[in-house]
Amino acid sequence: MLTAYDFPSASIADKANVDLILVGDSAANVIHGFKSTKEIGMEEMLLHVKACARAKPKALLVADMPYNSYSNPMLALENAKKFLEAGAKAIKLEGFDPKVMKTLTENKIRVMGHIGYLPQSDKKPIVKKNEETLLEEATNLESAGCEWIVLELVPEKIAKKISKELSISTIGIGSGRYCSGQVLVFHDLLGLNAVEFKPKYLKQYANLKKEAINAVKQYAKEVREGKFPQKKNCY
Ligand code: KIV
Repeated sequence: MLTAYDFPSASIADKANVDLILVGDSAANVIHGFKSTKEIGMEEMLLHVKACARAKPKALLVADMPYNSYSNPMLALENAKKFLEAGAKAIKLEGFDPKVMKTLTENKIRVMGHIGYLPQSDKKPIVKKNEETLLEEATNLESAGCEWIVLELVPEKIAKKISKELSISTIGIGSGRYCSGQVLVFHDLLGLNAVEFKPKYLKQYANLKKEAINAVKQYAKEVREGKFPQKKNCY
């Protein structure tokens, strides 16, 4: 799974054959320049989902429910339906509220859970929960009808155990080698972040920011020197 936030990023992820595209609320950080994912709401997330859906991906498009958009069952259902109307095929939400989860799955909404480090809560990015608690949360999510669970910053040993015991897929980020799948943020993977972000779990596969800056420098230089546009660029 890879995150995407707009038409080009969803098209790239899909052309590269990822299985799932997550329109993550990490858009708050990597697109909007906020420090916290709590800063993004339904209005912005719906625009991101609609832009990704226009890429008509073969990959399953999953919409991340933003902070405060699922604080009670009816609100969660109403907002999940908005994401489906915008083109998402499933939704993801952090933590586990049994009533919210039941309402969504009983209404045939495909749900991805998310446990471990939860960026929407104020907890520090260190998983303090023990193995038993995390396993119980994962089992509860599976019983409530979740189809996948993101494990964020869960120690590898615990992620391995959860992945072995559950029949649904686990998708890891900073949770080691034994999850059923992995997820990274588009801008992290491609080296496109405006603000330096290099946690140990991240493998940066390209340095597109550097390439982009060089390309724009070259353009500005050529304009200043009268080398662009050339005759062939004129009408
Ligand atoms: O918003 C996001 O990008 C996420 C992933 C890191 C799982 O929730």
